[in-house]
Amino acid sequence: MTNNPVIDLFDDPNKKFVKVCAPMVRYSRLQFRKLIRMYECDLCFTPMIMADCYVKSAKARAHEFQTDTDDRPLIVQFGANNSFDFVNASNLIMPYCDGVDLNCGCPQRWALNEGYGAQLLKNPEIIKDCVRQLRNHFPSNKTISVKLRLLDDHRKSVDLCQQIEATGVSFITVHGRTVLQKNEPIDQECLKLINESVSVPVILNGDIKSLSDAFAMQEYTGCRGMMSARGILHNPGLFAGYQNTPLSAVQDWLNIKHTNFLWFHHHLVFMCERLLPKTARKSFNQLRTASNVISFLEDQLHISNVLPSNRILGKELGGTSGAYYENIAVEDTVSFQPEDIVDSIINLFD
Ligand SMILES: Cc1cc2nc3c(=O)[nH]c(=O)nc-3n(C[C@H](O)[C@H](O)[C@H](O)COP(=O)(O)O)c2cc1C
Repeated sequence: MTNNPVIDLFDDPNKKFVKVCAPMVRYSRLQFRKLIRMYECDLCFTPMIMADCYVKSAKARAHEFQTDTDDRPLIVQFGANNSFDFVNASNLIMPYCDGVDLNCGCPQRWALNEGYGAQLLKNPEIIKDCVRQLRNHFPSNKTISVKLRLLDDHRKSVDLCQQIEATGVSFITVHGRTVLQKNEPIDQECLKLINESVSVPVILNGDIKSLSDAFAMQEYTGCRGMMSARGILHNPGLFAGYQNTPLSAVQDWLNIKHTNFLWFHHHLVFMCERLLPKTARKSFNQLRTASNVISFLEDQLHISNVLPSNRILGKELGGTSGAYYENIAVEDTVSFQPEDIVDSIINLFD
């Protein structure tokens, strides 16, 4: 046992691999983390939080990060383009998490233009500076990690991971696609090579849609962690071995205390995709109040036993830091077309 629960997970000889929920803007928030922890998810990431906004704005801090004492082990992911912001934001958040992560994978144009996300892959010195500066500030009982995409050839990807390892990261997460790849299968060969070339734990990310996918990819690549984003969004029971969202997970979701109708409803849209027939799904996606959503589920799925406060959820915005979040939030309040929004969000990162 170390004094960090994340390291303990990686060290646990009884675990074939560590089951990880990906950082997902808008979605890997406290309530969703609570749900998936009930279904054998070992380690959760927050959505990416913009480090500069987090430091400057109390409003951003309140909106972007919520946690509670059960919400562990937890990694907070920051978007940063310099070590000053990364260290300052980490400094504020460290007491409430087990480690911080630097986003080096976001392929959106705004991020690339401003030197965030995948743009950092072209400036490894900034990545290294972020990790080194933070390591100097914090004791080793907190993890520091990097989530990145592949470069355009295997040798360059391995070399970058080795350089990052040399700065003192605790683990690395690799999304097995390049910035330009969208729906191509992930490059498991490269993940295998990376895993064999570094000694820190590697978390594989990409295309894990079921527990058997995770087992197969672990077997092939040897990676220590398996991270899912879209798979677990559509099926929170994924890591517990369910093929589709179990009804119990919908029931559990209705019993978790929510604060925002939009997040509450969006997740149900994902989760219920395979539980409702197409016509019912269309009506469900267009519902605008929590009480209608709940009545619908009571009727269609025979769900009962709902936390009373969830019937009266409001629509206050849940994200403010950075123009990116503001744009999405405004879209939400103006016209929520669930299928369009779901598609556009899914395409943001792939
Ligand atoms: C809705 C959504 C939001 C995402 N937000 C983030 C994020 O905040 N930080 C990040 O590093 N990646 C983010 N991603 C990318 C995922 O973490 C992951 O790398 C990618 O979706 C591939 O994994 P998957 O095939 O399991 O979906 C997001 C993906 C989705 C679908």
